[in-house]
Amino acid sequence: MPPPSDAPLLRACRGEPGDRVPVWFMRQAGRSLPEYRKLRGEGSILDAIRTPDLATEITLQPVRRYGVDAAILFSDIVTPIAAIGFGVDVVPGVGPVIEQPFASAADLARLRPLDPEADTPYVLETVRNLVADLGDVPLIGFAGAPFTVASYLVEGRPTRTYVKTKALMHGDPELWHQLLDRLADLAIASLRSQVAAGASAAQLFDSWAGALSPADYDRFARPASAKVLAGVADLGVPRIHFGVGTGELLVAMRDAGADVVGVDWRVPLDDARRRLGDRSVLQGNLDPAILFAPWDRVAEATRDVLARNAGHPGHVFNLGHGVLPETDPDVLLRVVELVHAEGRAA
Ligand code: CP3
Repeated sequence: MPPPSDAPLLRACRGEPGDRVPVWFMRQAGRSLPEYRKLRGEGSILDAIRTPDLATEITLQPVRRYGVDAAILFSDIVTPIAAIGFGVDVVPGVGPVIEQPFASAADLARLRPLDPEADTPYVLETVRNLVADLGDVPLIGFAGAPFTVASYLVEGRPTRTYVKTKALMHGDPELWHQLLDRLADLAIASLRSQVAAGASAAQLFDSWAGALSPADYDRFARPASAKVLAGVADLGVPRIHFGVGTGELLVAMRDAGADVVGVDWRVPLDDARRRLGDRSVLQGNLDPAILFAPWDRVAEATRDVLARNAGHPGHVFNLGHGVLPETDPDVLLRVVELVHAEGRAA
């Protein structure tokens, strides 16, 4: 059974008042949880993702522990490209590493379309398992945005400077757009299949879009993200669009077709709403590093996020980016309790 359409997360995503502010955390599943570390052992995260019983259990762990208002599918933004055989590993402490980075037009042939039922049956089985187990709690499906995925394919590994990515987009815009178009199609196919299997919302992670100037974002990233968001518009699930360091891009990311705009901790929510308009629906934005401060300070910062939202019904409480692996889970539990006790959407 899918969750009710009046689940707190879904109401907030539509900007409708509810009786509490929904809260979940990016990277709520993962290394910050002792029960995750115990289950995962040493294997590759991609193997865990390919094992539906394991991926299901890992997704459920934070929902049980914290009582959050959403589950997020345990997967990765490189799952589709791994599934079509592009050659990627996710190295602990590093991130995605590409065996043969994308370098020329010949590499386009390595990016064939995704057939989700054949290529990622384990993802769909995990989603179906989860929807059966989660009851009233919505499951968020997700995909990597074309720019962020392209940055890994082109650089070969995480980067601070994006020099190869920017050299390609400016040096060969036609090839760049062909690359992003293929990645958009992969994201659309993946998201559509997750929603068809029962996911109630879709988040597009353009985590590294903040590396771009607004002009470059509009020219080199936004069209493909807009294609993805348009490509799932008919499904009737909220589309959340998130990136880090995207204060100057919030309006463009909304205009790309998002229902909910994710805000990192650098832009206070009242300021974000000034930029986006009073009816905007926001997700965020407690600084994940503040969770390491004494509890009084964490509580104050949590209350500050709520105060800056000023009771607006369109707010999904979250961190400004993912949970850091060293985070104390007890602190996250207290944040959830505080948001549920003191956050009022109406
Ligand atoms: O709880 C959740 O948020 C759901 C699971 C999730 C993972 N990756 C699991 C994961 C989600 C939503 C992602 C998306 C993802 N993957 C993003 C976008 C979100 C963001 O952080 O901005 C990005 C950029 C990636 C690429 C990636 N995968 C990175 C940078 C890393 C970290 C590498 C490291 O070890 O520090 C990964 C690995 C990864 N993905 C882990 C998890 C739980 C940790 C590795 C492990 O447990 O072996």
